[in-house]
Amino acid sequence: MSLWQKHAIFEKNSIVLVIGILIVIAIGGLVEIVPLFYLKNTIEKVDGVRPYTPLELAGRNIYVREGCYLCHSQMIRPLRDEVERYGHYSLAAESMYDHPFQWGSKRTGPDLARVGGKYSDDWHRDHLRDPRSVVPGSVMPTYGFLAKTELDYSHIAEDLKVQALIGVPYTPDMIANAVKDVATQATTDSPDAADLTKRYSKVQVRDFDGNPGAVTEADALIAYLQMMGTQVDFSLYDDKANIR
Ligand code: HEC
Repeated sequence: MSLWQKHAIFEKNSIVLVIGILIVIAIGGLVEIVPLFYLKNTIEKVDGVRPYTPLELAGRNIYVREGCYLCHSQMIRPLRDEVERYGHYSLAAESMYDHPFQWGSKRTGPDLARVGGKYSDDWHRDHLRDPRSVVPGSVMPTYGFLAKTELDYSHIAEDLKVQALIGVPYTPDMIANAVKDVATQATTDSPDAADLTKRYSKVQVRDFDGNPGAVTEADALIAYLQMMGTQVDFSLYDDKANIR
């Protein structure tokens, strides 16, 4: 029997064909999947990427609670038009401490992965209160209540603990100081700022919502927005000419 005739067994018998397909796919799967078990990490380490500060984490929780991800992505693709509009494409490491990640799947509004530092805190305040006051044609909903709602951060240490449980490197020191760190980061010229900076590199410390009397949900959300995409210093990795 020639090889060609042997193949007729598969072509004439669907069960044998299915078993044959399963065996071939299993081999392909093993070749692709097994090597991953021998890697310590599938995410390349990148200098500068650190866990969120407690205030930023609280802001991120509000971002998730309000469903901002339904209209905004946090994933700049390595395509020329995206890089020219938003900046350096997103790295896997930049969302390694996001549980759950906020890549999103739809852009009714622009990508937010590098929105940090793009606007002033005032702009964000006005924009959240009434998007039409700064972007006339905007269809973004209003979130004015955030600036009027005091942030409940009594459980923030537990939040950090849960994140630590799933692999975010929060230290016992970070967890013990979590509540204090929220108030510190939301205060301009806080005496504890140096202490906070020791725990979290490149942390921005100021009264984000323009209301020094209270730590509000807007403080947390704006702190989160202003740090987005600012952790990695891309000038260390490649010059601008290369990425475009
Ligand atoms: C219904 C869709 C929708 C939702 C929900 C939404 N946005 Fe937007 N957002 C937009 C649109 C559209 C724009 C572009 C127009 C503008 O700037 O207002 C925008 C713009 C923005 C910008 C400015 C981005 C830039 O680079 O100019 C920020 C920051 C922002 N949104 C934050 C948020 C946050 C935070 C939330 C959740 C509290 C949110 N958005 C919820 C639609 C939405």
